[in-house]
Amino acid sequence: MKSLFVRSLLGETIERPPVWMMRQAGRYLEEYKALKEDYDFMTLCKTPELAVEVALQPIRALDPDAAIIFGDILIPGEAMGFSMEFSPGPKIQNPIRGKSDILNLKCNSPHTHTRHIFDAISLLKRELDALFPSGPPKAVLGFAGAPWTLACYFLDQGPYKHFQGTQICAAQDPSSITLLLERLSDFITEYLLGQFESGADAVQLFDTWAGILSEEDYRVFALPYVQRIIEGLRRAGCPTIYYANNASHLLGALNESGADCISLDWRTSLSSAEEIIGSETALQGNLNPAFLFGSFECVQERTREMLNSLRRRTRYIANLGHGVLQTTPRDNARMFIETVKEGWSAND
Ligand code: CP3
Repeated sequence: MKSLFVRSLLGETIERPPVWMMRQAGRYLEEYKALKEDYDFMTLCKTPELAVEVALQPIRALDPDAAIIFGDILIPGEAMGFSMEFSPGPKIQNPIRGKSDILNLKCNSPHTHTRHIFDAISLLKRELDALFPSGPPKAVLGFAGAPWTLACYFLDQGPYKHFQGTQICAAQDPSSITLLLERLSDFITEYLLGQFESGADAVQLFDTWAGILSEEDYRVFALPYVQRIIEGLRRAGCPTIYYANNASHLLGALNESGADCISLDWRTSLSSAEEIIGSETALQGNLNPAFLFGSFECVQERTREMLNSLRRRTRYIANLGHGVLQTTPRDNARMFIETVKEGWSAND
């Protein structure tokens, strides 16, 4: 049986939109905070049994239609030679300072160096099948960071904030940044293919920092690498979701990514996205995560408004426009999911 999630992604007729939340595992759940008392973040990410337990916590608490494997977009960096620490934001101890650092990046295979992610995905799939033996299956999602966003974290920022250091490098040394983006693309393609082969039903590419680029620069430093990764996954039959944050000015270009689904933040209205992104491509999003701090009525109203703003009744996955915020009231997160589950007709 195909999950509601995959059926919607493929454009089949669906009874209601599927729903999940970016960053649905994490600190707004007491059970996550309890595990963090015994294990640090990296241990949670790298121990398949723990990563699966954390990925299942929001499934038990909120019952969304998909489980995303627990990890971080920066974890593959270790296989390439970066040392990092999360406190809780990521800190790269040996960021790239010049072309020689890029040439010296390690060429380790994801199959040997990120095996724990693949094992965690297979285990998550088995656990979900055991938890829901007869019900509609939950989708398992893999993920990775998009090359531009990863480059933002891996390049030395000098004294700059907001990743201006990465943009300065793009201006001063385009051949070095091109080399870095190519190497990241090759690694991420293999990494996501491995996740698909391990049982992920779809994979999401996170481009959190796409929106700091103009459309012209996005087409040079981000889009070609995203297209390359997505093409590799498409050839293997792996469904893809591409999340670009703060990207209202990039809609036309996002439509050329080749992804099966474009995931939008709340600044772009779904109705304007529908005009640019064709009906053959699914849309995901895009409630402002801040609205989950309102009253139950506010959450219901905003969620219904979001669903009703769409013309389509398939190829849509309800989600937030960015990750769940840290102190989000859990009952409000649950209310968001339950309101989507009332379906189109109840919300029309
Ligand atoms: O539930 C899920 O969605 C799966 C887990 C997941 C995490 N990070 C766990 C995490 C996913 C998919 C990510 C993606 C991620 N990581 C992104 C892209 C999505 C986005 O939010 O834009 C980015 C940019 C990162 C990098 C990162 N990791 C940052 C900026 C931070 C600090 C901010 C924060 O939320 O604290 C992290 C740490 C991190 N990643 C935590 C979690 C649960 C908190 C660490 C902790 O619990 O100590």
